[in-house]
Amino acid sequence: MYALLKPLLFRMNPEKAHHFTTSIFVFLSSIPGVSAIFKSVFRIQNPKLERTVFGIRFSNPVGLAAGFDKQADLYNAFSNLGFGFIEVGTITPKAQDGNPKPRMFRLVEDEALINRMGFNNQGLEKAIANLKKRNTDIVIGGNIGKNKITPNEKATDDYIACFEALFPYVDYFVVNVSSPNTPNLRELQDKEPLTLLLNTLQECNNKKPSPKPILLKIAPDLSESQLDEIIDIVKDSNIAGVVASNTTIDRKGLKSVHQNETGGLSGKPLTQKSTEIIRYLHTKSNGAFPIIGVGGIMNERDAIEKLEAGASLIQLYTGFIYGGPSLVKKINKAILHKGL
Ligand code: FNR
Repeated sequence: MYALLKPLLFRMNPEKAHHFTTSIFVFLSSIPGVSAIFKSVFRIQNPKLERTVFGIRFSNPVGLAAGFDKQADLYNAFSNLGFGFIEVGTITPKAQDGNPKPRMFRLVEDEALINRMGFNNQGLEKAIANLKKRNTDIVIGGNIGKNKITPNEKATDDYIACFEALFPYVDYFVVNVSSPNTPNLRELQDKEPLTLLLNTLQECNNKKPSPKPILLKIAPDLSESQLDEIIDIVKDSNIAGVVASNTTIDRKGLKSVHQNETGGLSGKPLTQKSTEIIRYLHTKSNGAFPIIGVGGIMNERDAIEKLEAGASLIQLYTGFIYGGPSLVKKINKAILHKGL
């Protein structure tokens, strides 16, 4: 079905295609009985796929990565497609428009996307209103960020505001300091500001009767010494784990005419790079914390490689655009087949 639709969708502007397909899918899922049909086609239920990671039970390890459902208005419908979890966001305290359009590009020859969305989202209030309508039993993560107008010295306030407001509505948190599309955001990955940010968030978390897992999402463009620092900071702040990785600013080996667009590159050109980061973090830390592996999972083999490199869970975005919803089921079948 998706194979038939894809040529049409790929003729549309990528952002319009996203809104077009997701609104149709949300509408279809609202028709009584249709969600059940989607679930019967796309979901695999098998106890061997279930796993408990950072204290949370996942029905399977394949998730939808952040950025697809920026304001938490798609997760109920998309939970019918076989994902074990969906990460909503990045959510910022206040609504913001993001960068001027066009800001998403398909690099078809490279099986990739470049985006410079810039955290376009309707802000915390709207996200919470949407999360109150939750009617799915899959795990929901909340990916949080800072508004563009908030200076880095005040960034912690934005993350705390998101954390506190979203706390009742999501199962785990991801602190996004790795998007290349908010000016200077990635400077928050430096040792001093990152330690302050994560320690402050963990302090708030520890005051709750039942704290929730907080993970850090990192860029794939960090050096080994920066990754060593990340390992120390994750251990010292006692957060639950790492999401590796966000999009890259690297542009090596691309063919598409869009290769020089500013923004973050995702999809096939990122596969190896993010797998190597997962392997490095997992090996160097002796598996001290769980890793959600994301970046260029375009097929079953890429997914298995991420898990074998040390990821406990995996996520897709670009692979889902190129491969369609059947990819989630194919990956879960491959995981069962491999006995992972
Ligand atoms: C993203 N990604 C992303 N990540 C994040 O933490 N917050 C966000 O708001 C977004 N937004 C976003 C928009 C678009 C259009 C894309 C393609 C990606 C990054 C995403 O979650 C993921 O980390 C990377 O895309 C790498 O995975 P894939 O796409 O190669 O599977």
